[in-house]
Amino acid sequence: MRLIFLGPPGVGKGTQAQRLSVQRSIPKISTGDILREAVKNKTSLGLQAQSFMDSGKLVPDEVVIGIIRERLKEADAREGFILDGFPRTVPQARALASMLRQDQLNIDRVLNFELSDEELIRRLSGRRSCPDCQAVYHLEFSPSLKPDRCDRCGGKLIQRSDDQPGTIRSRLEVYRSQTSPLIRFYEDEGILARIDGSGTPETVYRKVAAAVG
Ligand code: AP5
Repeated sequence: MRLIFLGPPGVGKGTQAQRLSVQRSIPKISTGDILREAVKNKTSLGLQAQSFMDSGKLVPDEVVIGIIRERLKEADAREGFILDGFPRTVPQARALASMLRQDQLNIDRVLNFELSDEELIRRLSGRRSCPDCQAVYHLEFSPSLKPDRCDRCGGKLIQRSDDQPGTIRSRLEVYRSQTSPLIRFYEDEGILARIDGSGTPETVYRKVAAAVG
């Protein structure tokens, strides 16, 4: 099963992709996670990406397309994957289609998650993440057992640098101008499913499971 999770920042793509990945034993591939790891390790990719990420802009297409091209060659992605946060522009979507076509493969379904701006801002402002194991929490909706500590690995939880109010606003604008055209792109291909992202993670997961079959 080859899936794309599409939607604005904070809608819950990562949360749902993580659950589905465990349930269906297919990898969740998040360009955001790969880029954050590169920034943390100060690799040349990280140094290149950091200023774009900190200002809420998209990392250039050729860089993220290169990341995905390499990642999809790995053995665990052979039987399927969930792309979380890629593609984010029409050129990225076209590059993905052409990569898959070379192996006579295609995307089965694109899940487009929807939520009001007010709720998106609430989710992003309260998010806390573990930089060591990438677990995600929310101060109000899914707090860790001990304040500031990851339940899974004990790492110190942080607020992502792009979850500050000014950067959240620019990420939402970038989403509207550069990523939302993908809704039409995949609707035209007949593989788009709309998911109402409101409600608890369990409620949303039921809709996700129904949409992917
Ligand atoms: P990325 O990491 O992909 O960020 P994003 O798309 O902005 O999405 P988020 O991770 O912010 O949100 P999410 O939808 O996964 O929500 P989550 O599940 O965490 O990208 C970061 C940056 O990297 C980009 O700005 C760009 O610079 C660069 N980048 C990445 N990919 C790129 C690409 N393809 N091209 C170019 N540049 C790229 O949930 C949010 C919060 O809500 C959490 O606290 C969670 O616990 C909580 N929550 C989740 N679901 C619920 C629920 N149902 N009810 C209550 N709370 C909930």
